[in-house]
Amino acid sequence: MNAALPADSAPALPRQWPAQGVTRVPYWVYSDPNIHALEQQRIFQGASWHYLGLEAEVPEPGCYKTTYIGEQSVLLTRGEDGSLHAMLNRCAHRGNMVCREAFGQAKKLYCVYHAWSYKLNGELSHAAFQHGLRGEGGLPKDFQLAEHGLRTLRVATLCGLVFATFSDKTEALEDWLGDVAAGIRRVLHKPLKVLGYDTQRIHANWKAYHENPRDSYHANILHTFYGTFGLSRQSQESGMVLDRQGRHVYFYTKAGTEKTSADYQETADKLRSHNDALTLEDPGILRWRDEFGDGVSVQILTAYPSFVLHQIANSLATRQLLPKGPGQCDLVWTYFGFADDDEATTRMRLAQANLAGSAGMISVEDAAVCEMMHRAIADGASGESFIEMGGRGLESGGSSKLSERAIRNFWHNYRQDMGL
Ligand code: FES
Ligand SMILES: [Fe+2]
Repeated sequence: MNAALPADSAPALPRQWPAQGVTRVPYWVYSDPNIHALEQQRIFQGASWHYLGLEAEVPEPGCYKTTYIGEQSVLLTRGEDGSLHAMLNRCAHRGNMVCREAFGQAKKLYCVYHAWSYKLNGELSHAAFQHGLRGEGGLPKDFQLAEHGLRTLRVATLCGLVFATFSDKTEALEDWLGDVAAGIRRVLHKPLKVLGYDTQRIHANWKAYHENPRDSYHANILHTFYGTFGLSRQSQESGMVLDRQGRHVYFYTKAGTEKTSADYQETADKLRSHNDALTLEDPGILRWRDEFGDGVSVQILTAYPSFVLHQIANSLATRQLLPKGPGQCDLVWTYFGFADDDEATTRMRLAQANLAGSAGMISVEDAAVCEMMHRAIADGASGESFIEMGGRGLESGGSSKLSERAIRNFWHNYRQDMGL
């Protein structure tokens, strides 16, 4: 027997967003299970486009990949005619997961529970014992295979990236990305080749990580490897680009363009991340090639709500952020190069992959601060963050990297989607 909990037994959490708007984020938003459930509905199954993977991961007819949008298991398939399809990885019969492997190749999608099988586009092609046996059992006479396919999603691609959305109304993918699509086109300018994967469990709410690559303010301050070895410093030419809605952002830095000034030097001398005492036994990892011909050594691009594309020297990777309950998330790193890379270029990319990923010399610190932050704010009972670097508005901060403009814009879009 279930005894109803007395109404006052649950701790009362404040649900009022602070009056200062997007310059404050109440800490309950990172830990409240009701907020987490609402996010699945309003953000992950709402109007956004979500990154599923690379076209290069499903290169041939019949190839499929299992992944997630939020916490919902989804399938990306390539049909016999070469077209891409996305669908829930959930059998239309009784909800069993249809494909279990991370990747595979098949002529049909077969549910092991009662042998319903689906075409690669999600249409149901067969239901075991549909007509019963010896006049008994079976599905009703009016059962139509065509009415029981897998739930399909809208799919779109850009430069080899595959996205899907639950919404029929959302604008086309390139319109949704707006000016930030230029940062994707700049890097993904020819066919890709997957080099490997790395999945990292981060013990923090997904939004704490989502804020991080939008946070151009921290990059040259937290990361010793950037500042000390000069891949990215505040004294270098840099900038930030947002789309019109402020959903997406990329920022970039050009190594070798140092312009020092008295006010820069005064701060830089005090930064932990500028440490002249550190040297590398093998500086080979820092030898990078300006393959895009524009001098940009680092470009970090973040699409709302869960996609990152990075170019750090010649290390290229996508990052897919997958919530796993309110207190943890998975970050799936897919390292890639180009199909026409020679052996030496591939070796250089693989060596530089050590800058990123769960143990990367740069990015190891990102997950660490997310987890430290999570421990410090986890009870969600009080407190709020302060996001006024570069000003208080959605435009303020302009294109300066010394700004939290992209974070304010994230929370603006988040609040709109969530109705908070
Ligand atoms: S749950 Fe898939 S066939 Fe029954
Ligand atoms: Fe970082």
